[in-house]
Amino acid sequence: MTTHSTTSTASTGKRKITIFDTTLRDGEQSPGASLHSSEKIVLARQLARLGIDAIEPGFPISSPGDFAAVQQISRELQGVEIVGFARALRPDIDAAIRATEDAGFRRLHLFISSSQILLEHQLRKSQQQVVQMAREMVAYAKQHVERIEFSPMDASRTGEEFLFELVEAVIAEGATIINIPDTMGYALPDEYGRMFRRVRENVRGGDTVAYSAHCHNDLGMAVANSIAAIQAGVSQVEVTINGVGERAGNCSLEELVMAIETRKEALGVETGIVLPELYETSRMVSRAMHFPIAYNKPIVGRNAFQHESGIHQDGLLKNRNTFEIMDPEALGIPRNMIILGKHSGRHALQHRVAEFGVALQDGQLEELFTRFKAIADEKKHVTDDELLRIVGSTINQTLERFVLQDVQVVTSSLKNRVASVTIADQITGAVQSHSATGDGAIEALIQCIKSAMPFDMEFIDLELQSMAHGERAKAEAAVEIAVDGRPYRGSAIDQDVVMAVAHASISACNQAARSVQADVEAQSGAGAVS
Ligand code: KIV
Ligand code: ZN
Repeated sequence: MTTHSTTSTASTGKRKITIFDTTLRDGEQSPGASLHSSEKIVLARQLARLGIDAIEPGFPISSPGDFAAVQQISRELQGVEIVGFARALRPDIDAAIRATEDAGFRRLHLFISSSQILLEHQLRKSQQQVVQMAREMVAYAKQHVERIEFSPMDASRTGEEFLFELVEAVIAEGATIINIPDTMGYALPDEYGRMFRRVRENVRGGDTVAYSAHCHNDLGMAVANSIAAIQAGVSQVEVTINGVGERAGNCSLEELVMAIETRKEALGVETGIVLPELYETSRMVSRAMHFPIAYNKPIVGRNAFQHESGIHQDGLLKNRNTFEIMDPEALGIPRNMIILGKHSGRHALQHRVAEFGVALQDGQLEELFTRFKAIADEKKHVTDDELLRIVGSTINQTLERFVLQDVQVVTSSLKNRVASVTIADQITGAVQSHSATGDGAIEALIQCIKSAMPFDMEFIDLELQSMAHGERAKAEAAVEIAVDGRPYRGSAIDQDVVMAVAHASISACNQAARSVQADVEAQSGAGAVS
């Protein structure tokens, strides 16, 4: 259940931190990440499923589309507090009031620049003019909405004396939440924490309001600064999914929430975030904003829970807590903790092979291990598809059901793209060609592969990466499909993007076929392939 108090204490005795999500406002200010209002609505529904306490869905005055998105989200998500964002200007406030008027719970968030450098060169106002504007606009907003959040923009580069004066003025006019943004990502954790303590102690009325942290990541300290603010007593943190936002971004929701979750005993706080929704939310935002996630990004990056070193893999297989401080499955992240590469050992190899339903006989593991190391020495990592191939030749059995025999695509800027593929099915012996059209070559190719499969396959995700520069650059494709709701991933590298996607898709299909067959064998009591 959503709580609308910023000072509530949860039943566990831990202080509850309100999670304020600004992915759809500050996050959208990330270059190239702008969203259509219909995409905002879909993402806002997911944010509600994630258990966000307050959503800032846009900047109502900035465009009719943003106004409409804030309005629709206010009407639909009645259980979440909706935040209307506005400069300390009457037209902005009026737009924010109108856009949020149908919300079940709402607040207005007013901001004005406060650092001397912004006053001189951006706002071109004196400190006294700023205090006057802030006073008048908070008083005006308060006539319409009870909960008023106020942000002095660039607070961490604002002189203390002026910061105190400004905050005191808006509290006197009825502001209920004081957000102290580190707008430029400049503060150090101890400085940032101290600012909250100093404001609370030195501003008249400072102990009557709630405090919020809002950190940018220019020096990579947004999460550390937000934690320092929590330790200094703030009850709300402003975050974005995947840390998207202006320049280097905002405090990342998933990193902050998992730091709180993992170290809750040390921090004595908790959030209401629904952890199993974290990964899906991250993927949705990444896709909608066309914003790829770095492989090594904490929590949601592709490598975040993958282990290549043999020592780590061995430890993990004995007890997961040896080398992992979080359980990825609890965050909705499919577990694929072991990447097979040149550092992997026999234990990890045997474990992965067993996952394919293959039990190796005496001596086969040693033979397989030698072959595996020879490939691993050449390549960065051994994909499941390659592994199936060498396991098959070690045990003299074909484990790859589908073999891609031919791929053709015809692209024209005037017509639909056409693809045709020929796939051999090693179980039935059939070799069939399928063709399809699509708006793009890859869409057409995927349609062909879907129609060639004997099972219903849902194409979930495709990530493409360029592996090198120049004319001979290679593409790496990572494909995710689902069969009977179970996800399978395949990756492939090729100089031709379409071929990389084709091989990665077939690899995922082979894994699905292998696991469907293993299920059938298990049910019929046939046991593992050996
Ligand atoms: O970074 C910032 O200062 C902001 C606000 C205006 C709160 O996004
Ligand atoms: Zn910001």
